[in-house]
Amino acid sequence: MGLGYAPAAPSRAWACQDAAMELESVAASVAGIPFMTPDLGRRVYEHIRSTRPEQALELGTAHGVSAAYIAAALEANGSGHLITVDHGGAAYAPSPEEVLAGAGLAHRVTVVREHSSYNWFLKQQIEAASDAAGNCSPMYDFCYLDGSKNWNIDGLAVVLVEKLLRSGGWLLMDDIEWTYEDNPWIVPDGDGRPLGPLSDSERTQPHLRAVFELIVKQHPSFTRFIREDEWYGWAQKRTDGARRYELATSRPLGTLLAAELRRRVRRSRRKGS
Ligand SMILES: C[S@@+](CC[C@H](N)C(=O)[O-])C[C@H]1O[C@@H](n2cnc3c(N)ncnc32)[C@H](O)[C@@H]1O
Repeated sequence: MGLGYAPAAPSRAWACQDAAMELESVAASVAGIPFMTPDLGRRVYEHIRSTRPEQALELGTAHGVSAAYIAAALEANGSGHLITVDHGGAAYAPSPEEVLAGAGLAHRVTVVREHSSYNWFLKQQIEAASDAAGNCSPMYDFCYLDGSKNWNIDGLAVVLVEKLLRSGGWLLMDDIEWTYEDNPWIVPDGDGRPLGPLSDSERTQPHLRAVFELIVKQHPSFTRFIREDEWYGWAQKRTDGARRYELATSRPLGTLLAAELRRRVRRSRRKGS
């Protein structure tokens, strides 16, 4: 039996308060677990709340922290689903399933760990969405790429992702300035053989910056770009507008300069040693 009255729509102030509580609650439930920082978590959460994607994709799950932030925003939106993909063999403690269940968000996320690389998952998705004439029907409104950081892998990933992104959809790339030189403990997946060892420029130059500048920014379907805090690259697929490029910061300039200074000192120390 109905209640006989319609519940009042929540006031804007209440809605804002609720959203802040949801963000606080997901941040508390993933506190201390790598990798997404609370600052980027808030940034991504706000993006999902304002753009309201129905289908979201994440490449690079790890423990599921970023997945939890995205899923919390979808939950607050009242609709939407996230597929998050990692290596077949990826094993994390806590697992993404545990992290998402702990945050009460497992129902918003499908965790995929079937292949050696997300690129094979993307290949299968394109295959399933394509007709005989080569038309691929896009299905995602948002993609967060936070995986290999390698030119060979992510250079292909962004091309495949574009095919699956709807017009108006956003691609977010993390770690634009990441280098193997700054992360010497990481061996590039699949890059040892048959491609051979990294050359000096492959070791010292940021692969993702090249992916963003040379592939994403020059792709005819991506027309709006934001470089944020020198670390994140946003690209919107829009086939109906002029190309736009923005530089943005969500942090005080002093913090950005200090981070850049720290990076340069680390680099020159390594060169000196
Ligand atoms: C930095 S972690 C992801 C962190 C996660 N997005 C977060 O913020 O909580 C990068 C992840 O990408 C995965 N990865 C790297 N290259 C990959 C590839 N080619 N295919 C699938 N997963 C990959 C790694 O196994 C790792 O779990």
